[in-house]
Amino acid sequence: MPVNLRGRNVLTLDDFSGAEIRYLLRLAADLKAAKQTGIEVPRLTRKTIALIFEKDSTRTRSGFEVAAYDQGAHVTYIGPSGSHIGHKESMKDTARVLGRMYDAIEYRGFSQHQVELLAAYAGVPVYNGLTDEAHPTQVLADFMTMREFTHKHLSDMTIAFVGEGRDNVALSLAVGAAKVGMDMRIASPRELWPDSDFCTHVRGLAERGGGQFRLDEDIGACVEGADFIYTDVWLSMGEDESAWGKRIELLTPYRVTRKLMAATGNPYTKFMHCLPAFHDTETEVGQHVASEYGIDCMEVEDAVFESEASIVFDQAENRMHTIKAILVATIGG
Ligand code: CP
Ligand code: NVA
Repeated sequence: MPVNLRGRNVLTLDDFSGAEIRYLLRLAADLKAAKQTGIEVPRLTRKTIALIFEKDSTRTRSGFEVAAYDQGAHVTYIGPSGSHIGHKESMKDTARVLGRMYDAIEYRGFSQHQVELLAAYAGVPVYNGLTDEAHPTQVLADFMTMREFTHKHLSDMTIAFVGEGRDNVALSLAVGAAKVGMDMRIASPRELWPDSDFCTHVRGLAERGGGQFRLDEDIGACVEGADFIYTDVWLSMGEDESAWGKRIELLTPYRVTRKLMAATGNPYTKFMHCLPAFHDTETEVGQHVASEYGIDCMEVEDAVFESEASIVFDQAENRMHTIKAILVATIGG
């Protein structure tokens, strides 16, 4: 069946069918190969894209900028300060202004409601570059990377997310995995589980997509046979820093260690992380946590992060190729 994503928003993976997700992954693989072999054809010439970031970013911003430049488009970066967004101008008004000037808008911010407002009023495609609730463009890169590192179809893969169960990346992974029929498990302390409506929704998607969804405090049961173990930071951008102590206490048993990697019983298990990661003390936050709580890593130990099993930088690279696929599919000529 032909797939046409022209003019579409990317607010959450709920917006896409399994077939549409697979289409974007095939397009991303083609674009990656074309760039690598020097035969990339620009399909976004003279397009303009606004990049709104109310939170920091390395990968997402670079991914959008490089993807746009490779394809002949121009971008405007609008950071957390320097525009009127939020303090003097509502999202509804901002949407109607930017929609008159740009062919598409990327938005990274706090509530999902803001990106939905932007999409409702902009009149051009809007892409969610991360909210407190979802990180859909991350998951496309993750699925692309998973395909590159196994011979399995997405529907034959097992992924175990270990850590904060209501983390935005975990939630988007769960929705995406259900759509493509994957076996997805989340191992997390009960206090950090996603709400029951979300779980019911994902179970319904998994049933229809031929996948499975399991949420459990039992980390050993969750990682059994896993092709991929995935984790994310224990405190996301925008969360109150005073929560570190409680999070560290709750999540230390969920740290990805060499022992946990071995516990899958699968010698080919790969380690994944959306990044940035606290695997050492070479950052301000890492040093603060080390001096305050006496630990030299958080969600993953350095030995796993730096191991052969770690595919985190492949994920990071694929952010750009999958973002490019979204741009080409939605606004490409
Ligand atoms: N994974 C991710 O979204 O990274 P950035 O915060 O650097 O964009
Ligand atoms: N959960 C993290 C993801 C960063 C890419 C955050 O929201 O900060």
